[in-house]
Amino acid sequence: EKGGYDYFMLKEIAEQPKAVADTLLGRIDGSGSLTLDEVRIPQGVLREIDKVVIVACGTAFHAGMIAKYAIEHWTRIPCEVELASEFRYRDPILDAQTLVIAISQSGETMDTLMALRHAREQGAKVLAICNTNGSTIPRESDAVLYTHAGPEVAVASTKAFLTQLVACYLVALYLGQVRGTKWGDEIRAVIRDLSSIAGAVEQVLGTMEPVRELARSLASKNTVLFLGRHVGYPVALEGALKLKELAYMHAEGFAAGELKHGPIALIEEDLPVVVVVPSPRGRSVLYDKIVSNIQEIRARGARTIVIAEEGDEAVVPYADHLIRIPVTPTLLQPLVATVPLQVFACELATARGNEVDQPRNLAKSVTVE
Ligand code: F6R
Repeated sequence: EKGGYDYFMLKEIAEQPKAVADTLLGRIDGSGSLTLDEVRIPQGVLREIDKVVIVACGTAFHAGMIAKYAIEHWTRIPCEVELASEFRYRDPILDAQTLVIAISQSGETMDTLMALRHAREQGAKVLAICNTNGSTIPRESDAVLYTHAGPEVAVASTKAFLTQLVACYLVALYLGQVRGTKWGDEIRAVIRDLSSIAGAVEQVLGTMEPVRELARSLASKNTVLFLGRHVGYPVALEGALKLKELAYMHAEGFAAGELKHGPIALIEEDLPVVVVVPSPRGRSVLYDKIVSNIQEIRARGARTIVIAEEGDEAVVPYADHLIRIPVTPTLLQPLVATVPLQVFACELATARGNEVDQPRNLAKSVTVE
């Protein structure tokens, strides 16, 4: 049932191109627009939405953080993302013009369920992004956009995460399409890029051997840090979460701009630091800033593990280890940048003798608050 793989996690990592393609299937029509008929919230209601609030836990929360960048950029609707476990307890401001998006692989996470119940009681519309047909969260929502990752068995979420991202991009683009905001060449181009993104994921998977080797060489380390900016920041958080849960190592993700505000004190000789580098094209300010962050930590002895786009030569002198990812639009980069981090964590867990599919103390779905 593991399809020849040693672990479900490895199988599920390998299934990602298909999971991504399946989640897009039938949702982009021949003319390059989106057809999300399943989202049964009337378009008139979606046009009136003045705020989006995303609630989720763990890896799904990281997908939500990335969704915020996409939603605000493509629709100009303000978007908040909150851990479902924190959401209710701060008396959030919600009304009929609020669209709440609840992201959950299992559809049974109690904190996320409680958050959406609270949102509906306040009159907000709730859209679930979920991987499990007929589970509680979609049943209690106004609408659901299913991810088509197929069953995810390994406790650590991989293919579900990538499909959550795809679903979030679809929702963001759909809101843009319905509302006509910023709807134009860029959005059409992104829809085209999305249609070929499964191939990019496949391409990354084909280049993972050096990542595995690197992971094995770090098996005796205690700490690994992860840095990113913009959508690379949630990717850094996700890389750190994977390493914690699988390798039981101290792993932390930071927004690279926060380094100087504290975390840089952690940098010492030979400390592995993974840096997610945005595309050098377009957002050059972002790019330049992260390149100087890499220089700063390297000058203090860090061993830099740099995830950068193919063709990005400027980072080469500062990378002790370089992991290449295909060229993608900035907002879609998490779909390819996360994959090496999954492989890295899985291999480190194996090298440390840990149980990959069933990490200690964890359950696949957390049905208690
Ligand atoms: C991490 C992981 C968890 C889940 C979280 C939410 O690899 O799997 O952090 O993402 O428990 O679960 P769902 O998406 O089922 O609500």
